[in-house]
Amino acid sequence: MKRAAILGGSFNPMHIGHAEMIEEARRVLAPDELWLMPAKKPPHKAAYEYAGDEHRVNMLKAYASDFDDVFVDETELHMDGFTYTANTMKLLKDRHTDINFIFLMGADSAKNFHNWYKPEVIVENAELGLFSRNDIGKEELEELVDSLKSKFGGVYHIIDFKPADISSTMIRSLAGEGKDIKGLVPEKVREYIEKAGLYSKEPETGYDKEFLISEMEKALKPSRFKHSLGVMETAKELATIYGADSQKAEIAGILHDCAKNLGPDKLRNLCCQNNIPVSEREKTDDNVADALLHSKVGALLAKNLYNVDDKEILDAIYYHTVGRPEMPLLEKIIYLADFIEPSRTQNCKPGLDVIRKLAKTDIDRAVYYATKATVDYVTEKGRYLNPESLETLKYYSRYKGEF
Ligand SMILES: [Fe+2]
Ligand SMILES: [Fe+2]
Repeated sequence: MKRAAILGGSFNPMHIGHAEMIEEARRVLAPDELWLMPAKKPPHKAAYEYAGDEHRVNMLKAYASDFDDVFVDETELHMDGFTYTANTMKLLKDRHTDINFIFLMGADSAKNFHNWYKPEVIVENAELGLFSRNDIGKEELEELVDSLKSKFGGVYHIIDFKPADISSTMIRSLAGEGKDIKGLVPEKVREYIEKAGLYSKEPETGYDKEFLISEMEKALKPSRFKHSLGVMETAKELATIYGADSQKAEIAGILHDCAKNLGPDKLRNLCCQNNIPVSEREKTDDNVADALLHSKVGALLAKNLYNVDDKEILDAIYYHTVGRPEMPLLEKIIYLADFIEPSRTQNCKPGLDVIRKLAKTDIDRAVYYATKATVDYVTEKGRYLNPESLETLKYYSRYKGEF
């Protein structure tokens, strides 16, 4: 049976480090073919920081044209939503029953492999080729392989590797400044970047709000979408009152619940794959995982899937459920907008209408009462009260005042 090794990545752009991985995989594994699989481009990423799918594919094809055994596979570019390696490998294996795949990954990913989405499906459909690196050596990988084997089965190969100290970010910034990138990327890729003038565009500012709204309409249930529109409008209103950036408020508002429909397992998996801390309670209790992790994963999706790289926006999404002491203005705005937007109907003391009014005149005090209402509600129902909400409550209690 034919053997094909697959190297996935953003390839934005492909550089000499990738080329070295390919050479090493070819030398150690001797596959019949090497497939380069570009990952999906986050929508609406500015051209200076992200070459379009077509350019990335063209760069890979330019590189591949020097070899008989290198091919570009565009499967992931055509998949819907967030792509998981398990789904991709299953699809590829179903399509190519005559090929034995070897999925290549770096040692850092390998170390976290047990937390990936459906690792057992990945090893069922592909062997794994693991590249060591300077800080994660061959011996450590051998131990890891033993534990992965006993957990998931599968076939593993270790590729002893010394990665080049080079990154796509570095190349983009050099190319952006018009500096020479000779020797840092394969020659054909360099020619392509120069000819197409990639990465040299001036930074674009602003977000495409309409596009994000349409994405949320697809990603969320109708009631959640309506709520998100409400949070967007309310956040904009509060931003105008308090002199915050109303565009950022709108973007954070529309996206704040973008991970709400994923469900507890996917939320936990995405956290693990991206080093987002998950508490014991979040690990074991599905309701708690849903309630608390969707904001953290929301920030991750906002960054990776919806191309938001503004830290204030990402933090506002990250902390929107439980808040934190000393929240910056935008965080308070999203936290409150989530609580008071027009479609909300919860009963609380001192009443939603009172907190709505307060939000427009005294934001810190409104944060206190919104937090208190949440804490009271959870306590009354005998549900799990997370320590972060209590921290927020404790801090904002200094603003409580009298009615
Ligand atoms: Fe939420
Ligand atoms: Fe929400």
